[in-house]
Amino acid sequence: MEGSMEREFSEVLRRGYEHASRWQASVAERPVFPSVDPAELRSLLDAGKVPERGEDAVTVLDVLARVGELGSTASAGPRYFGYVIGSSLPVAVAADWLVSAWDQNATLYSCGPAVCVIEDVCADWLVDLLGLPHQTSVGFTTGTQMAAFTGLAAARHHLLAAHGWDAEADGLWGAPRIPVIASAQRHASIDRALRYLGMGARVRPVACDANGAVVLGALAEALDEVERPPIVCVQAGNINTGAVDPLAEVCELVHARDGWVHVDGAIGLWALASAEHRHVLRGAGLADSWTTDAHKWLNVPFDCGVAFVAHPEAHAAALRITADYLEVSERRDQINTVPEWSRRARSVPLYAAMRALGRSGVADLIDRNIANARHMAARLSAEPGVEILNDVVLNQVLVRFTAPNHDADLLTREVIRRVQDEGTCWLSGSTVDDRTVMRVSVCSWLTSTDDIDRGADAIVRCLREATA
Ligand SMILES: Cc1ncc(COP(=O)(O)O)c(C=O)c1O
Repeated sequence: MEGSMEREFSEVLRRGYEHASRWQASVAERPVFPSVDPAELRSLLDAGKVPERGEDAVTVLDVLARVGELGSTASAGPRYFGYVIGSSLPVAVAADWLVSAWDQNATLYSCGPAVCVIEDVCADWLVDLLGLPHQTSVGFTTGTQMAAFTGLAAARHHLLAAHGWDAEADGLWGAPRIPVIASAQRHASIDRALRYLGMGARVRPVACDANGAVVLGALAEALDEVERPPIVCVQAGNINTGAVDPLAEVCELVHARDGWVHVDGAIGLWALASAEHRHVLRGAGLADSWTTDAHKWLNVPFDCGVAFVAHPEAHAAALRITADYLEVSERRDQINTVPEWSRRARSVPLYAAMRALGRSGVADLIDRNIANARHMAARLSAEPGVEILNDVVLNQVLVRFTAPNHDADLLTREVIRRVQDEGTCWLSGSTVDDRTVMRVSVCSWLTSTDDIDRGADAIVRCLREATA
């Protein structure tokens, strides 16, 4: 029995490996967005009925592989420039398989000593790599959405405690109101984190400059209006332009009011690992909480966000949990750092990526992607009718198309549609200052200058066809 179980396990895992390898081998040259009929996928999945009898595991994997192959985007490939997605380093994918094979609950030391220690080491390495204050405490979340929740929960605790209010014991009923000030171009996940925390949508927005970074004068005005120390949310990596707010000055202004600075670094916090680019985030280490996504620019598989808090006591007070049945330890129990209870050991692929890349490899990844984003901007701006709207400080390029006798919004939308259909690369649109724009995000370790050239050629071809 034992022998046959072992055999079955290795046969099934081998099949999974074969399918995964085939997918990986094809990902660079397949159309970046699949042309797929969801009805075909549902039919392959035998939607509509739970099978009465179980099926052979290998057959099940074959069905899933077919569905995945027909209907997945090549976001793990070199020319996926949509949203801010990032692909996956091979070592991180393999480490993620180990996470599944070990099947540890990354909750408590008593549930899995190895993953607990890996998470500790990973937390220390991240603080070191990014140059954050040495006492910073760290939590590993599904993504920046829940990392923002974590950082802002610590902020809420810290600022209310200063008024003698215990937010964890008494909630917000009758609590002093904490003012929240945030970049007018913040990511929507900040608003949702505030909603989760019972702080509603009462955010005082701060105007941004042409590149999408907060204007310090406007922040100073907002700070003059508040009667209590506020939470101020700024960002390192505007979702459209990649702009970084002037963090040193923001921290100085906010700390002069005893406020808390939260930095959404989902995209850009990794630039702190680059000697060439960390100046863009000057003063980042002065903030009170930060977030980032390893599944974006560090190229680990989904999902892996990170919350950093410079005030470990506030972090612990906001998230700590106890229950009689939990065997707590003298060590750092991971359950006290994040909103989740049971969870995957998502620090394992992150540790693998950092160890395989080293400091220099992370810096090289950041530097290459930024250089390639600039190359894309240079290639496109050489074409008549292409406007680059942003200063490319990180890996985001914002593009708009114009032509005589064409409405620029409609033309930009049309070019995006054509590029998406053409298949060489994939990117998406947005609206900035009421203007339709095309967003290009370069965040894969696989993207070469040749991939940028192929993408730029495809975009120019689509523009020429749209205006012909
Ligand atoms: C700037 C910014 N903040 C926050 C988020 C939310 O991150 P996640 O999707 O990992 O929760 C994103 C992501 O898409 C982002 O780009």
